[in-house]
Amino acid sequence: MRRFIIIGHRATISPDFILNDLAGNAGRLDVLCRCLSSAFFLSHDLRRDVEVYLILQDQVVLRIVGSQLRRMNPDERNIAGLIRAALKKLEERERMSTPGIFISPGSLKTVVDQLTEQGTQLIVLHEKGDPLRDSALPDEAAFFLSDHLEFTAAEQHLLQNIPRISLGPLPLHANHCITIVHNELDLRDISEHKRSDTTIKEERSNGQR
Ligand SMILES: C[S@@+](CC[C@H](N)C(=O)[O-])C[C@H]1O[C@@H](n2cnc3c(N)ncnc32)[C@H](O)[C@@H]1O
Repeated sequence: MRRFIIIGHRATISPDFILNDLAGNAGRLDVLCRCLSSAFFLSHDLRRDVEVYLILQDQVVLRIVGSQLRRMNPDERNIAGLIRAALKKLEERERMSTPGIFISPGSLKTVVDQLTEQGTQLIVLHEKGDPLRDSALPDEAAFFLSDHLEFTAAEQHLLQNIPRISLGPLPLHANHCITIVHNELDLRDISEHKRSDTTIKEERSNGQR
């Protein structure tokens, strides 16, 4: 399972926003919608082994589960409509809004604690981290990203003991970072499969299978 956690510093927690003004009155919700699109959509297909957490103003958590996701299209307006529907259903406990979209009160701290308890390895995506290509990436990793703003001092403090990985020296858009991480993991998966295929062939030719 690949997990991405995106911190939406100003993203609206009220459903009363205008779909035509996601970058304005919805507090840059457009950035988070693009992150969801990059996390889940392939050309004509959906990545099912992905889970995304959107943390809105450190008060509300949307958890989007690829294996259960229905009704989502890659365009920002459709995704924002699903987020708006979820915000209308916010209650004390986590609740499913539409298939695969869950909403609950929560913060960066609650998400970090929850993923740590599950045994997920946490990684912060940061320009000043260790280079991606030289870093080991576990199967069960959760990647933390900020939206269009820097991580705040409080967030950096909370994430200070988590390894940082850099995708290069230039500041990239958060959704582009997600695409790069997916691509790197896809390529590593393929070479992993090739390696195990080669091992099976070698074992067969040696009479071990
Ligand atoms: C648009 S950037 C945030 C602001 C950006 N640091 C700037 O100065 O414009 C969004 C997020 O994507 C991730 N990110 C951007 N560039 C990156 C890079 N080169 N390596 C790793 N992560 C990066 C970080 O998590 C960052 O907080």
